[in-house]
Amino acid sequence: MNQNTFSKVDKFSGNLLNHNDDIIKTIEKNLFTEELPPINVSPSQGQFLKIMALAVQAKRILEIGTLGGYSAIHLGKALPENGKLISLELEADYAKLARQNIKLAGLYSKIEIITGPAIKSLIELTEKNTAPFDLIFLDADKPNYPHYLKWMLKLSHPGTFIISDNVVREGEIIDPDSTDAKVIGVQQFLHQMSQEKQLTSTILQTVSVKGYDGMAISIVQ
Ligand code: SAH
Ligand code: DHB
Ligand code: MG
Repeated sequence: MNQNTFSKVDKFSGNLLNHNDDIIKTIEKNLFTEELPPINVSPSQGQFLKIMALAVQAKRILEIGTLGGYSAIHLGKALPENGKLISLELEADYAKLARQNIKLAGLYSKIEIITGPAIKSLIELTEKNTAPFDLIFLDADKPNYPHYLKWMLKLSHPGTFIISDNVVREGEIIDPDSTDAKVIGVQQFLHQMSQEKQLTSTILQTVSVKGYDGMAISIVQ
């Protein structure tokens, strides 16, 4: 089995099961023509996030790392009428493109993007006593993953689902001598997770059109 097979099966699955509307396809084209870095989740991973949000009947979702809004749109599609997703993005240019894509997807009233360093936004959300979130998707700034755990927990309630992207990194995660800041960030983050008694976590390894990686799935108890 190799990457070629993984990609073909991923595409087969997506074409068969995702029922993606023309809007999702248009947004995929937009991400490409807007020349955003191709680091959004894959179509199947987007579908997975949507299923998770539906499973926990999420009314409030927090995302860290918006890029062009691709994962936010999948998550947003799972929200009920009065649901809300807050997504944090460092780059104002990306936030602007994401807002356009979100508008196109008809989700503008449900998705709010806060621009700036995520840590700053998380502190502000906490200080404002924002209601806790039912699902959190962490997908930005890997070297700083360890700094996000505390804030994610503060913004959680028992039952909150936390999904953290890119925690396998083609297996580099098991290299104790790695000098890659992203790998080290994720390693420390996973170690911290293991120390949190209130978290039940596992790593879901993934092969996809995006290569070999994985998501950490946690539930707050
Ligand atoms: N979740 C998106 C992809 C996010 S890519 C999707 O799947 O569609 C990671 C994003 O995090 C990038 O847009 C990057 O600009 C943003 N980012 C990087 N450092 C950040 C920081 N410190 N605070 C907030 N966002 C950050
Ligand atoms: C990168 C970031 C991601 O969130 C991802 O899914 C893939 C790659 C990156 O920064 O390289
Ligand atoms: Mg990612």
